[in-house]
Amino acid sequence: MLHLKSVNLEKQQIETLAIPVCEDKDIHADPAIKAVIKKALELAEFNGKKDEAVTFYDLPQIKARRVMLHGLGKFKTIDRETLRAMAGKSVEKCINSELANLWFAVPAADQLDLGPSEVIVALQEGAYLANHIFQKYKGENNKKALKQINFLVESQVARKYRHLCAKVATVCEGTHLAREWVNTPSNEKTPEKFTRAIVSLAQKERLKVQVLNEAQLKQKKFGALLAVAAGSLSKPSLVILEHKVPGAKKTVALVGKGVTFDSGGLNLKTGGSMADMKCDMSGAAAAAATLITAARLKTNVNIIGAIPIVENMPSGQAIRPGDIVRSFAGKTVEIGNTDAEGRLILIDAMAYVIKRYKPQLMVDLATLTGACMVALGDKIAGVFSNDDDLAGSITAAGEITHERCWRMPLPDDYKELLKSDFADISNMPSSRYGGAVSAALFLSEFVDDTPWAHIDIAGPAYLKKKSNYCGPGGTGFGVRLLMEMLERV
Ligand code: BES
Ligand code: ZN
Ligand code: ZN
Repeated sequence: MLHLKSVNLEKQQIETLAIPVCEDKDIHADPAIKAVIKKALELAEFNGKKDEAVTFYDLPQIKARRVMLHGLGKFKTIDRETLRAMAGKSVEKCINSELANLWFAVPAADQLDLGPSEVIVALQEGAYLANHIFQKYKGENNKKALKQINFLVESQVARKYRHLCAKVATVCEGTHLAREWVNTPSNEKTPEKFTRAIVSLAQKERLKVQVLNEAQLKQKKFGALLAVAAGSLSKPSLVILEHKVPGAKKTVALVGKGVTFDSGGLNLKTGGSMADMKCDMSGAAAAAATLITAARLKTNVNIIGAIPIVENMPSGQAIRPGDIVRSFAGKTVEIGNTDAEGRLILIDAMAYVIKRYKPQLMVDLATLTGACMVALGDKIAGVFSNDDDLAGSITAAGEITHERCWRMPLPDDYKELLKSDFADISNMPSSRYGGAVSAALFLSEFVDDTPWAHIDIAGPAYLKKKSNYCGPGGTGFGVRLLMEMLERV
């Protein structure tokens, strides 16, 4: 799918060539490409400004049917994300024009403030991520993904960096997988179906798989998780995936919120706020897809995935506001609001993982609070952690992958907000302010002294509008981030 190649543009016949163009600097080495850019810049409508584009057909200098030039903007502003965006837009254009193959002219790295592998990887990521179309449920007007995306470099660069193609493709395939799961409608991913989908893929990749079913969850006293599941006709599960590497020093646990639909329960969501709640398993999708990706790449860290899967529905069997349940850890929780269900399934999954696997690090991902979106908007995730190093490696990984994460506080005195008159803790804070913080503090009461980070992805997990290299809906946020983080812990 992705290929790093060196060819002579004056001889080799190709279908489409995309050229990134910098507004105020010549960033290419190939004389044929330089000549085409010069010609384009002579046009009044093209100056290389960000997202300006022009297409030439059948140029004499280059044996390409069409050459698409795409502006990157000013040299100083060009970073990895500029390149991903350019590549993504070019791929989208080709898909819409029903093309099958695309070549990118890779800028000479010594002309950019990035290393050669960074330039190649960023372009490849943008291209691969954009080459995903979710259309399973459409009968006609289907689009076709590109078959081949080639990256044109000098021959020694091609030899040196060829190994990157497979890795980028595998990681981005993990993002595609998470997107597919998130976009799948809730009737097609009931807890039973979603559980089976994860299990069958994980087994194929030879991960160790264990599923705790409803009876086992009852027997082991997962009271908080079971409480959320009570209103649904579907049965809950806890999926445990293990990626084990001989000789690996650390075990990292990844926990993902898997609410296949969040109606709010008896505290039913109103109006538009329920519409996109099929996305409430995005944390689970990211955690499971990361484990599958780590298995494919033989990542050198032991990883435990713990994925609690439930549906939050109102019914005669549902939990009620005021109910008190006993969590797996033993603490009692008053259900102040049935819509604060994510934290309930997470505390049981996390307490179980800590007891059973004693991981050195634990990271949970969850579409946990609307409040986090109010705080950071829908493109930046909130990170809450009791460990500065772990928080640092997550935010640093996010800088690289452009899955932006912003550290938020865990102030001890705010725990006051979670006091219950009748139980050890309430799942509903007493103030409507700082909801993302109080949700994270609730989780923190169940992690003991395990170095832990919580990533609230309510905003970036699901975007109604398409972006540079992602269609509308699930973004797969977290997979590339966690893969990058795993290289730093
Ligand atoms: N799944 C929601 C959070 C959410 C909101 C995710 C928007 C994605 C987009 C979560 O279960 C929820 O309902 N949280 C409540 C908590 C409140 C009742 C304390 C919220 O954010 O309003
Ligand atoms: Zn909810
Ligand atoms: Zn939820």
